[in-house]
Amino acid sequence: MSATAATPKPEVRAAFESAKGFMPIGEGLALYAAAVEAGALGLPLLEVGTYCGRSTILLADAARQTGTTALTVDHHRGSEEQQPGWEYHDPETVDPEVGRMDTLPTFRRTLHKAGLEEHVIALVGKSPQVARVWGGSLGFVFIDGGHTDEHANADYEGWVPHLAEGGLLLIHDVFPDPVDEFTGQAPYRVYLRALASGAFAEVSATDSLRVLRRTGPGL
Ligand SMILES: C[S@@+](CC[C@H](N)C(=O)[O-])C[C@H]1O[C@@H](n2cnc3c(N)ncnc32)[C@H](O)[C@@H]1O
Repeated sequence: MSATAATPKPEVRAAFESAKGFMPIGEGLALYAAAVEAGALGLPLLEVGTYCGRSTILLADAARQTGTTALTVDHHRGSEEQQPGWEYHDPETVDPEVGRMDTLPTFRRTLHKAGLEEHVIALVGKSPQVARVWGGSLGFVFIDGGHTDEHANADYEGWVPHLAEGGLLLIHDVFPDPVDEFTGQAPYRVYLRALASGAFAEVSATDSLRVLRRTGPGL
């Protein structure tokens, strides 16, 4: 990342900080700077794992600043660790009529309140299924979806083939030490996989967020 990393305006930062979600501000600032940098490629920015739109706010503003569009994929039914009885469950995210989590309404309100709706395309569905029908190139892929090996690898295998050379791959919740993270180390293993592919070089690490640049073809 350059010494002149882009930072969000106070109102965007305030919208991010007040939104429901899991990303701390330090990682958010690194995410934003990477998104603005990648947005200069003129290709869409993609996020896997919308949840209630906290990180999406930053990608939406980065898209606005760089004249591109943010895409965000989620089935909105929550990850394993967000289900009732698990550590990251929030009862407010349950649709009482359906009896299952539904974070889509909160996400829509979050973006509307932040005035960023027109810079985002929400893709509602399972990430690998959406990836299979996606045909375009991407300048930025941010993986923050399911934390099992199955899901994290499927996100990587589904979206990384669309990432243009010079584009950025970001992986959240990378915990090299197993004692640090309740949700497991699948994102860490995907990060190692990306480096071992020879197609990526590490750009930066901010807490559990890793930024890699695609330097060549490969998966
Ligand atoms: C950790 S949360 C994302 C947090 C969000 N980026 C934020 O900043 O608050 C993970 C999200 O991934 C979604 N998810 C998990 N597995 C998925 C899959 N296979 N396809 C689509 N979405 C998935 C869950 O529904 C959940 O909303």
